[in-house]
Amino acid sequence: MLRLYFFSGTGNSLWAAREIASRLGDGELISIPGCDASKENISADDTVGIVFPTYAWGPPRMVAEFLTALKIPSGTYTFALATYASSPGASLPMVSGILKKNGAILSAGFGISLPSNYTPFGGAWEQDRQQKSFETASAFFDDLAAAVKSRLEQNGPSFPAIFVPVVKFFNKFSVKEFRKMSSKFSVGEMCNGCGICAKVCLAENIEMQNGKPQWLDKCEQCLACLHWCPKTAIELGRISKGRLRYTNPFVKSSDLGVKQKHGNTADVK
Ligand SMILES: Cc1cc2nc3c(=O)[nH]c(=O)nc-3n(C[C@H](O)[C@H](O)[C@H](O)COP(=O)(O)O)c2cc1C
Repeated sequence: MLRLYFFSGTGNSLWAAREIASRLGDGELISIPGCDASKENISADDTVGIVFPTYAWGPPRMVAEFLTALKIPSGTYTFALATYASSPGASLPMVSGILKKNGAILSAGFGISLPSNYTPFGGAWEQDRQQKSFETASAFFDDLAAAVKSRLEQNGPSFPAIFVPVVKFFNKFSVKEFRKMSSKFSVGEMCNGCGICAKVCLAENIEMQNGKPQWLDKCEQCLACLHWCPKTAIELGRISKGRLRYTNPFVKSSDLGVKQKHGNTADVK
């Protein structure tokens, strides 16, 4: 059976996971933040997939920790898809390294460029560019599903191996810094206390107090709160001011967050 694990702040990776699931057939779509890796019971006959966004040229910290704790029997066909805006950096070799330490093997790596949600580097892509990336994605998902069905083995896109140790260091430093970003978020008067920011937060880092969000100290920097706020009331320091927000148009905010746990791939479509 297919066991497709995903992590997604603004919906690209969930959309990709759903598209893949619909091509590969029956299985389970499993949200990484809502899943206790130690309770997962993977059999060597399963096909395991991991879909995640690239953060600072590597996997998000939560994904790395989840994979460190996940037991994948040797011989299980395992693939990973890194979604990214401009480059997956060393995401796939880093995931491969984590699995290897655990006695498993990353059979195939894939990467797809989808619209950026990294507001510190700019606002949302132009509509045309977003549209083009969704259109080309369809053929990519067809090819990925065919590759998985035929048990293709490949490393996938990455920086050359010589850069991987440096990128690994950069990624580990950056994801630690992300945790400190909680203090940079603020909320303006447009906030109507709907609480969507708290629901989509992948780290359960937001508490509603007196009808307004308060950020705690374990931010993963997925930026879901910033992008999904229906009033554009949330800012990240001054850098997000006036920049267009982005959410994947095929996903709803209610599909995301920690509470979105296991589901048959047919149910979550
Ligand atoms: C904290 C953070 C860091 C990011 N770093 C990178 C990066 O190093 N390279 C890149 O191409 N995109 C980067 N991105 C963009 C995302 O990887 C990309 O938009 C992804 O598809 C978002 O997936 P999601 O919608 O499932 O959350 C970053 C986004 C965030 C929030």
